[in-house]
Amino acid sequence: MKRRPEPELMDGPEQARAYAEADFSEPNELFLRLLTELAPGDLDGCRALDLGCGPADIVIRLLRRWPRLHCDALDGSQAMLDLARAAIDALPDVVARARLLCDKLPSGRIEPGAYDLILSNSLLHHLHEPQVLWRSIRAAAKPGALVLVMDLTRPASAGQAAALVETYAADAPEVLKQDFRNSLHAAFEPAEVTEQLRAAGLAGQLSVNVVSDRHLAVWGRLGGE
Ligand SMILES: C[S@@+](CC[C@H](N)C(=O)[O-])C[C@H]1O[C@@H](n2cnc3c(N)ncnc32)[C@H](O)[C@@H]1O
Repeated sequence: MKRRPEPELMDGPEQARAYAEADFSEPNELFLRLLTELAPGDLDGCRALDLGCGPADIVIRLLRRWPRLHCDALDGSQAMLDLARAAIDALPDVVARARLLCDKLPSGRIEPGAYDLILSNSLLHHLHEPQVLWRSIRAAAKPGALVLVMDLTRPASAGQAAALVETYAADAPEVLKQDFRNSLHAAFEPAEVTEQLRAAGLAGQLSVNVVSDRHLAVWGRLGGE
């Protein structure tokens, strides 16, 4: 199926609220499980960066799992960050360790070479120019930084996309079903992400893995060019 890009930012307040209220605990816990397996040692004390953080559910799970970790979280949507702010402010155990940055990638607000851990979930498929993500990751990484990027994979056909929407979002509000359908059509196939990594000069450091019936994950450590 041919890729059909969707708008980059989720900046409509209604769209952001519907997304924040949806239950993404299954994929978000998958993300945390992959991270735990990749870093069996202690991530505590790390400085992390989450790109396209949305309402910050993964940021919050991360900060709770590693109670001395600090995380900067960037999103270009103020509507998403308002929801992230409210969720984080309600949690005394994480509020001092999260910093929210409202900016669109590529961003001049990310400190170069500063991060031990760089994360992104469900951002890549939004990008009209996917190299923006790989360049941002490379610029932000400390030597040896751990990277984990997870996203949807594009199904082979519109029929398969519709079946995934029915399997995972049958009871969701229509705005979310439409978002999910659009995201599946906008997502990249694993081979396309492999080619992105090759073009970015990251193929030897990051690998592409299929981790569910609808997700791929890219992980590895950056050598620190
Ligand atoms: C599908 S949401 C994912 C949110 C969160 N990472 C999660 O896992 O729930 C994608 C987010 O990426 C943001 N985004 C899309 N393109 C962006 C860009 N070029 N720069 C910064 N944020 C962007 C959107 O505004 C949206 O909040």
